[in-house]
Amino acid sequence: MIEMEDHCELERENMISDSKSAVDNEPIKWFDELYNRADGNSQMIPWAKMVPNPIMMQWVRDNHIKGKALIVGCGLGDDAIGLEKLGFDVTAFDISEHCIKWCKNRFEKSSVKWQVADILEPPMSWINQFDLVVEIHILQAIPDGGIRETAAGNLPRLLNNGGELLCIGRLDDGRQTIIPPPWPLKKEWLIQSFNQLKLIQFELFSYPETKEVTRYYASWKKENIN
Ligand SMILES: C[S@@+](CC[C@H](N)C(=O)[O-])C[C@H]1O[C@@H](n2cnc3c(N)ncnc32)[C@H](O)[C@@H]1O
Repeated sequence: MIEMEDHCELERENMISDSKSAVDNEPIKWFDELYNRADGNSQMIPWAKMVPNPIMMQWVRDNHIKGKALIVGCGLGDDAIGLEKLGFDVTAFDISEHCIKWCKNRFEKSSVKWQVADILEPPMSWINQFDLVVEIHILQAIPDGGIRETAAGNLPRLLNNGGELLCIGRLDDGRQTIIPPPWPLKKEWLIQSFNQLKLIQFELFSYPETKEVTRYYASWKKENIN
């Protein structure tokens, strides 16, 4: 079991490192390079589970949220499809053109609005629009020193009054030894980044297949903003 996990981790690191080298280690461009290299083979995408994130699905069911949802950095699209099935009007975007093309091919009949966009510069038409914004493994996938902070700063702007932000990722609890990306995030950094929203919950968990990795899911609500 441990050997299998080590092998997967090594493969993940190699795929990411090859894609990064191909674009001179540019901190965001390598995502599109990776999707392009994968050429339709989802096993080449280290984060693609091909099912909606189970924590997100449970959280949405438990919190009875409805309306317009935005999936940030949607990857191969399963989270967007999961929310569509729960009745949301879903917009899903990613910085990678190859990724969005892949989503459109995969889910031809879906009514999800797939879009190429950058969380560093979201379209003005999205500001104050969404009842739910979902960020899974995005902030941890981009480096700090400006880019990650800008991305985090843009998330609350996308919520409407009463809208909720759900973030899921790896927690930096001082014990994580992964070669980045991803960069596990500190709880203090997350709390500080969204301090203009009301923190609703911050929970830790781990998946059975990677028990040694501490993860978090956390939600915030936009309230009383004129
Ligand atoms: C680690 S993957 C996570 C994908 C998906 N959320 C998941 O959990 O499987 C990060 C995704 O964010 C996208 N991404 C990276 N930088 C972005 C940006 N500035 N704006 C939008 N998407 C971005 C990447 O192309 C990639 O699909």
